[in-house]
Amino acid sequence: MKRIAVTGGSGKLGRAVVTDLLDHDYEVVNLDRTPSPESRATYVKVDFTDYGQTFEALHAIEDRYSSIDGVVHLAAIPAPGLITNAATFDNNIVSTYHVFSAAKAAGIKRVVWASSETVLGLPMGPDSPPPYLPVDEEYHPRPESSYSLSKTLEEEMALQFCRWDPALTMVGLRFSNVMAPADYASFPGFDANPADRQWNAWGYIDARDGAQAVRLGLESAITGREIFVIANSDTVMSRSSTSLATEWFPGVEVRKELGEHETLLSIDKARRVLGFEPRFSWRNEV
Ligand SMILES: NC(=O)c1ccc[n+]([C@@H]2O[C@H](COP(=O)([O-])OP(=O)(O)OC[C@H]3O[C@@H](n4cnc5c(N)ncnc54)[C@H](O)[C@@H]3O)[C@@H](O)[C@H]2O)c1
Repeated sequence: MKRIAVTGGSGKLGRAVVTDLLDHDYEVVNLDRTPSPESRATYVKVDFTDYGQTFEALHAIEDRYSSIDGVVHLAAIPAPGLITNAATFDNNIVSTYHVFSAAKAAGIKRVVWASSETVLGLPMGPDSPPPYLPVDEEYHPRPESSYSLSKTLEEEMALQFCRWDPALTMVGLRFSNVMAPADYASFPGFDANPADRQWNAWGYIDARDGAQAVRLGLESAITGREIFVIANSDTVMSRSSTSLATEWFPGVEVRKELGEHETLLSIDKARRVLGFEPRFSWRNEV
């Protein structure tokens, strides 16, 4: 598997994914409606809300490439509230159906795509606590926005695509809040008010570690649909994870003994199945 199409390769996470794949000797085609400065990747302007464009982009583009071996699907409106609710839902769910469907039509057997931590029931807070901590892949999605509903339905869509074609591998990555190195300057300020980052249980994912998870998803021996929570192994806070859990989510069961700064978004499954191990912590970057 050598030529990978990355949808949304010009975005915040996409740029890190494209760089990581290029650095690991993949040929990369960036499919996005926004251009990217990365000259090592082939860029094709595509709007995934148009099935014809999506179909062609995952088959062949004259003078550029003649086939695609695997797809990383990241193109989306990446959060609720950036545009109207229905426009977010429409863009994301239609684009994902088109990408999954065109990949199937092109005979592409491996798709890794961005789901979201939001399906775990974000925003979490005093009136909307998680069922237990650390949260993991074991409970039913709890979308609280049109954005998160689109991600939840995409996870179900992938399940059905894999039922239609048992030879298909579809890896859904529930990314935490994506961070680039420049974002870490603001992290020490989070300590003053734990409530500010309670909404995602103080989690984050370094874009470079997110890219590692994508590559491991492409290379894993999995078949069928699998879902993984992808976060860094620590929180955004300086105080202990145990104190955050007990003080800010009183009464919520903590199911394991937590390390000092251990993430409350469990990455145990990603570690076990994918071999994922985050390499970048904000603590080493500020
Ligand atoms: N940023 C986060 O904190 C976060 C957290 C969890 C999951 N995610 C998911 O990760 C993925 C990447 O997020 P990001 O932060 O890099 O977002 P981003 O906005 O930086 O990048 C998304 C890219 O997708 C492209 N795009 C969107 N709709 C398109 C369409 N219809 N046709 C063609 N291109 C389209 C945009 O041009 C953009 O370059 C998304 O699926 C997002 O939902 C992001």
